Amino acid sequence: MNKIQPNTEYLGKNIIYLPSCHSTNDFSAEIIQNGNFENGTIVYTDFQTKGRGQRGNTWESNEGENLMASIIIKPNFIHAVNQFDLNIAFSLALAEVFYPILNQNFKIKWPNDLYYLERKMGGVLIENSILGSTINTSIVGFGININQTIFENANATSLKVITGKTFNLSFLFEQILEKFEEKLNELEIKGCFALRDQYINNLLGYKEDRKFKINDTKFTGIIIGVNETGRLLIFTDGITESFDFKEISFLFEDNFL
Ligand code: BTN
Repeated sequence: MNKIQPNTEYLGKNIIYLPSCHSTNDFSAEIIQNGNFENGTIVYTDFQTKGRGQRGNTWESNEGENLMASIIIKPNFIHAVNQFDLNIAFSLALAEVFYPILNQNFKIKWPNDLYYLERKMGGVLIENSILGSTINTSIVGFGININQTIFENANATSLKVITGKTFNLSFLFEQILEKFEEKLNELEIKGCFALRDQYINNLLGYKEDRKFKINDTKFTGIIIGVNETGRLLIFTDGITESFDFKEISFLFEDNFL
């Protein structure tokens, strides 16, 4: 990747590039542990040996073809109970970068996967530490498939698979940092109401009949939003129920048997 020079106040002013590492999130946690880091430091790599995803999954990516990075911030204006606001701010930053390229088939799959139609092109792993009642440090890790074209996982896709074009990783990275700083400022100054509305409007399945699974029970419902703690609100069987990330999964056409 070329040099990253975002047009920002603080995000990405201190950059740590590692040709290869275990996990940029784990490396970031070590930096925080050691105590001395600048707000907005980013750690990025071309290859991870132990990339981590949500729900204890691994994150696999070919060397040098995709974006893999962590942003370390101290968003202590965010109350611990509103941690999900950070997911909203970052998802919207990503949507502002990728929507212009991919148009309406680009969606955020709750809580913050990047989807094109029914295929996943990226994921986010946010790890916060709380001090008192607010977030002390946050590691915003993301992996986005950009120029990789062959995947083991049949559900995966990339910008290149979708568009047939090769993209400049540094340029996309700079845009992500610029948009995220904008969203963080908006969150701090105006609060989350407007951002939450925009986020909900970008959700995969919003206002559509969709299939879900809880333990072994499959059901259909309509996504009508998220609440202030980030729980997914689904209208099903005449009532609105809220769900935690750990309990519910989306079902796609081929696995609703
Ligand atoms: C997911 O969809 O499950 C989240 C994937 C997050 C992967 C990124 S790659 C950079 C950063 N370092 C990690 O170990 N994970 C995140």
